[in-house]
Amino acid sequence: MKVDVLLGLQWGDEGKGKITDVLTPEYDIIARFQGGPNAGHTLEFNGMKHVLHTIPSGIFHPDKINVIGNGVIIDPRILAREIASLRERGAAPEKNLFISKRAHLILPTHRLIDNVFEASKGKAKIGSTLKGIGPAYTDKVARHGLRIGDISLKDFKERYDLLKSEHFRIINSYNPPEELLKVEGLAFEAYEKLWFEGLEYISDIRLIDSEIFINKSIQEGKRILAEGAQGTMLDIDFGTYPFVTSSSTISAGVCSGLGISPNNVGKVFGVFKAYCTRVGSGPFPTELLNETGDKLRENGKEFGSTTGRPRRCGWIDLPALHYAVMLNGVTDLVMMKADVMDDFENIGVCTKYRVGDVVYDFPGYETLNQDIEPIIKDIPGWKSPLNDYTVWDRLPEKFRHYVRFIEKSLNLPISVISVGPRRDQTIVRLV
Ligand code: GDP
Ligand code: IMO
Ligand code: MG
Repeated sequence: MKVDVLLGLQWGDEGKGKITDVLTPEYDIIARFQGGPNAGHTLEFNGMKHVLHTIPSGIFHPDKINVIGNGVIIDPRILAREIASLRERGAAPEKNLFISKRAHLILPTHRLIDNVFEASKGKAKIGSTLKGIGPAYTDKVARHGLRIGDISLKDFKERYDLLKSEHFRIINSYNPPEELLKVEGLAFEAYEKLWFEGLEYISDIRLIDSEIFINKSIQEGKRILAEGAQGTMLDIDFGTYPFVTSSSTISAGVCSGLGISPNNVGKVFGVFKAYCTRVGSGPFPTELLNETGDKLRENGKEFGSTTGRPRRCGWIDLPALHYAVMLNGVTDLVMMKADVMDDFENIGVCTKYRVGDVVYDFPGYETLNQDIEPIIKDIPGWKSPLNDYTVWDRLPEKFRHYVRFIEKSLNLPISVISVGPRRDQTIVRLV
């Protein structure tokens, strides 16, 4: 069987976690292939809400294997906290969670570097989650990072100390004020102690050669779903650089992040909100800095799952979605959160961008850095609650019109429609 992929088509927080959890019964293995604890994937079922950061969203299904792939970066302190809270909820990750030995570690000093770099950028700051993502991936590419498999090496502590002292040379060159030398409000040494305790705590989770495990599983006919983090417009190559994350968030990232060949990629589920949000800085052509934007934020509870920051909100952006569909080879669309607009008179849809006299279909290299005027088409709202629908045919006609309009524009079927945060608030139209 080929590996199916589920990833975000916008700027993250599309609802990937919820849909991964909903689709998990169809699969044997769920695997994360990139990103780290900058992600926050929310699941809601049985009256419970849970946010995952590093762990795949299939973890609440005890008979399914969850893999943290080589392309993911791990903060042992955050992972330990995640595992502890899963145990409180009755999950047993020591049984169904495996970690690639090749996954790189986020050191406490990576988080200090993130603090210092962001502060030094002033107004040009990226709006990073400050989890050490950029600095940890930088060390990976620079070939002096530490991997989780290295913890069993005799000289692990010496390697750690060496990298830490290199990091402090960088940090000290910025003459940082005291508060930038803290992590999660703790003095560095206190946080570092928790980090090592975290490493100890996660030691009962199996470390594996995940590329071999995944390829063997493909051979054995196992069904695998690769779960993306962040979104296409935050991709290191094709996102709104430099306001991006530091990994390959697109379907190509699955090959390097899990060690599979391109011809082993099957379906690609592209998840998008019926509107659009972004956290952090950077271009956002359809952003609504008005009451409508505030209403989207309020109705949609658009506050970061990882940082609690208010999310910027705006209308759905078809040029950016077209671009994302192209980059990922999307086969199936997944539409989230239309219920947030239940009481809207009209729904705005950005069909093209205008810059001066020129009209653009795609967010090209120059386009996004200019003053874009989104060309908006108004679609009549359905003005009734969607939350309780479970069947496509019964949905309000005006809503189905909206869905068909998006399908036609992107030339792809919307195979899953989510009408609320809970597992059971999902309409699956897969054939
Ligand atoms: P992810 O990072 O892509 O997994 O998305 P997040 O979990 O960060 O953000 C999605 C938010 O929307 C979460 O709070 C979900 O509980 C919520 N959510 C998911 N699907 C729906 C939906 O269809 N309707 C509503 N109203 N909320 C949803
Ligand atoms: P999930 O998986 C939304 C954003 C940050 C910042 C930029 C770089 O929940 O969709 P980083 O910490 O990676 O250096 O931040 O990327 N960002 C996200 N935005 N959802 C996420 O993950 C994100 N992960 C990073 O806000 O603008
Ligand atoms: Mg999120």
